[in-house]
Amino acid sequence: MPATFLLDGEEVPFESGQTVMQAALAAGHYIPYLCYHPEFKPHGSCKVCIVEVNGRTASSCTMPAQAGMVVATRTDALDAERRTLVQMLFIEGNHFCPSCEQSGNCLLQGVAYELDIKSAELDYLFPNRAVDASHPEILLDFNRCILCELCVRASAEVDGKNVFALSGRGITKHLIVNAESRRLADTDIAVTDKAMDVCPVGVILRKRRGFVVPIGERRFDRKPVSEQVLEDTPRHTTVRHEDST
Ligand code: SF4
Ligand code: FES
Repeated sequence: MPATFLLDGEEVPFESGQTVMQAALAAGHYIPYLCYHPEFKPHGSCKVCIVEVNGRTASSCTMPAQAGMVVATRTDALDAERRTLVQMLFIEGNHFCPSCEQSGNCLLQGVAYELDIKSAELDYLFPNRAVDASHPEILLDFNRCILCELCVRASAEVDGKNVFALSGRGITKHLIVNAESRRLADTDIAVTDKAMDVCPVGVILRKRRGFVVPIGERRFDRKPVSEQVLEDTPRHTTVRHEDST
C-alpha cells in the first residue's frame, strides 16, 4: 500500500521523493502555481503554490511529501495571499492582456482568473523595458517577465547554452540576455531550443506566429487553468488503495 497524506481531507498517495505538488497533481488535485514546471527541479520562487502543512505555510512545489501530513490547499487565507502575489506581478511588469499575443496561453492570466482577480488593486509601476527584436526569428518582450527562471534553467540544463540569466536583486531583478551586446541576435539560441517553449507568459515569442491559434481557442480559453493543468498531468497508476491489494 502506498504511503499517503491528507490533502483537503482526502487521502493522497505519493512515491518516495515526490513533492506535495507532484503528488497532488498526480492524484488529480490542482494547486495554483507559476514557476513550477514538471520537467524541471523546482526552485520555489513565486510562492503562488503555498499550502498549509500541519498548520504552517510552505511552498508545495518544494515541500517533500511525508506520510501522515495534513495539507490544506485553497483556504480563504491562502487564496488571499496568492491574490496579492499575483497582483504584485501584474503591477511590477507591463501586462496588457487584451493586446498580448499570449492571451489565452498565459499562465499568469489563467491563474489570475482562477483566483478571481478583477484588477491589480495596487499602483502600477509601469517599468520602462525595451523589447528585443534583434533576432530574425525570435522576439523578446521583457515587459511580461515574471522572473520564474524557467528559460534560464531550460537554456542551461537542456540546451547547454546559457542564453538567459537573471540580474539584480529585489525590485531591480530582471532578465538579461547573456551576450556582451545584451542582444538576442548575438547568442546561439535556436527556435528549436527548450528555452523557447517554457515561458509561462509572453516574453519569448516566435516571430510571425502570433495569432496562428485564434484568441478564444487557446489552452486557457478552452478550459480554466485548474482543469487544463490536470489534463496535462499524467495520473498515478497506483492512486487507489484497491490497486495495491
Ligand atoms: S522570460 Fe519567461 S521563462 Fe524566462 S524568467 Fe521571464 S517569465 Fe520566466
Ligand atoms: S510554483 Fe512553487 S514557488 Fe512557484
